[in-house]
Amino acid sequence: MKRESNKNLTRLVKILSDGQYHDGTGIGRVLNMTRSAVWKLIKKLQAYGLNIDSIKGKGYSLQEPLILLEVETIKRHLKDKVDIYLFESVDSTNDYLKNGHHQNLVKICLAEQQTAGKGRLNRYWYSPFAKNIYLSCVFHFAKDVSSLAGLSLVTSLAILKTIQAEGIKEGLFVKWPNDVFYKNKKLAGSLIEIQAESHGHSVAIIGIGVNVNMLNIPEKNISQDWTSLQKILGQYIDRNELCARLINHLFFYLREFDQHGFSPFMDDWMKVDCLANKTITLKTINTKIKGKVTGIDPQGHLLLRLTNGQLKSFSSGDTSIIK
Ligand code: BTN
Repeated sequence: MKRESNKNLTRLVKILSDGQYHDGTGIGRVLNMTRSAVWKLIKKLQAYGLNIDSIKGKGYSLQEPLILLEVETIKRHLKDKVDIYLFESVDSTNDYLKNGHHQNLVKICLAEQQTAGKGRLNRYWYSPFAKNIYLSCVFHFAKDVSSLAGLSLVTSLAILKTIQAEGIKEGLFVKWPNDVFYKNKKLAGSLIEIQAESHGHSVAIIGIGVNVNMLNIPEKNISQDWTSLQKILGQYIDRNELCARLINHLFFYLREFDQHGFSPFMDDWMKVDCLANKTITLKTINTKIKGKVTGIDPQGHLLLRLTNGQLKSFSSGDTSIIK
């Protein structure tokens, strides 16, 4: 089930974001709604997992910093004119775009929450309300799908560049093909799905998840070590500007990739590649291969020196370093 973003919810959060107590009647006056309509919105926010205290005679108070996403704020910081679809909740931003028809060359879908967020290899992508970035984008390439091998690498580099600009100068790495790590913890990932192709033209859905303000989560929801920008920087991050910067970087990188392929990105990749010269296992759908990473080729394939000495390139798979 999908829920369009709700302006009243955003306005309510703005009122509550000072951390003070506000009574239902006063909020209702500002938002031009009844006290019981305010109460329903409060219940909704609580159902999304937000910590809102309520004291009889005093009102409601938000116990954590919170800024919701707003399309107009994001657009104000964008370099290109882009259609943005923002949902309060959606199954998966990738699936939303996959099920639509895309005449427009670029389209973005954002959500505050995903109920069925998808990671690579059919994994689940934990997507709690208003904590992180869940962003998907439709992009048309003037090339065959066979030339898109480097697309997840380019996407990882665009994410890394955006995060660096937040002030994290060291400790950021990419892990072939789609992970962004801070030290040895996952910070962001991307999921590319090809939607259509014809000779010399392809359409990709590029889905990006960045852990932004997530601090504590029920343990079972993420199976690997993870971190978030707030954990690293020690402060709450406004996701609106971050989203805009991510979109700006992404489009710049995607256009470059569309015109010149992956080669112009190879140097950048090698500087932040955490697999370089490491012995790893590469899992594909039906095999598990061990080898030493010697680098990547100009298409973005992973180059592995196998234990029998043979050098082989791989276009997909899941990598893990052998300690
Ligand atoms: C991974 O690291 O396995 C890929 C994670 C991709 C998650 C993003 S969140 C936005 C978009 N919608 C989804 O359902 N998945 C991607």
